[in-house]
Amino acid sequence: MNAKVAGGSVLLVLLSFCAGIALAAIPAETEATAKLLAVLLDSGRGVLAKNQTLINDPEKGDKGFTSAVFEAQVVEEFKNRSGTDFTKLDSAKISDRGKQLLKELMAAGKQVIDEKQSVINEKGKGYKNVIPATWGTWTGEKFTQKTGVLLKQTALDYRNPKNAPDAFETKILNKFAEPTYPREGENIVAEVVDSGKTLRLLLPLYHKKGCLVCHGIPKGEMDISGYKKEGHAEGDPAGAISVAIPADGK
Ligand code: HEC
Repeated sequence: MNAKVAGGSVLLVLLSFCAGIALAAIPAETEATAKLLAVLLDSGRGVLAKNQTLINDPEKGDKGFTSAVFEAQVVEEFKNRSGTDFTKLDSAKISDRGKQLLKELMAAGKQVIDEKQSVINEKGKGYKNVIPATWGTWTGEKFTQKTGVLLKQTALDYRNPKNAPDAFETKILNKFAEPTYPREGENIVAEVVDSGKTLRLLLPLYHKKGCLVCHGIPKGEMDISGYKKEGHAEGDPAGAISVAIPADGK
């Protein structure tokens, strides 16, 4: 009996030791940067969603939704979600490369809003295709082009072929779709791949009420953006924000 218990504890100690090694293999600083990048992109998506009625207002010309207004709202949203104050980034406990990447991402996101000003301010037009998903795609592309760090939205039942998941993303998206996977909070999955060279991280997204006007029911019906609705319900897995960054954070 005693020997059995002792054997069990030895096994437990061994197991926790191995788990410790496996965890240590994920560079914490790089993981923190990748998570902040995903949360920052999703914060921008949230700001677009909050301003959707304004952006789609056909009665109004100048919406006042400038990149400065956008930035101030993203700073607020990002602080609420990550605890990081973007306006005090330089003194934050983030690697120098991490700070640089976060600034590049904010700059890319603002650039998209700047480029879309004439579309946003067009009077007489309702839907303008300036929505969280398109902003996310355009911003991710600019950011990846500039930094070499992959940042994209993805989903198993994707709309835009540019957002198609690769094998790694498919594996993790399937995990996010398991009924037992926690759906509140930033429940990221991070893994080191390519013999330790690349850190990959996915931040899961789940459908909220506001998503269902486009991704909800009736399945197959055309939504306002010109795609067929997927038939999803509130709480269904919606996809993820995906980051691939050199594991050494450089
Ligand atoms: C106004 C309609 C609309 C709403 C509302 C909407 N989406 Fe989408 N969604 C789209 C469109 C259009 C695309 C394709 C974007 C592109 O061209 O890259 C898309 C793409 C996506 C993608 C990337 C994968 C793909 O299908 O290409 C994810 C993930 C996603 N949406 C999740 C959400 C979530 C979560 C919400 C709510 C928070 C939401 N969407 C709300 C229209 C919408």
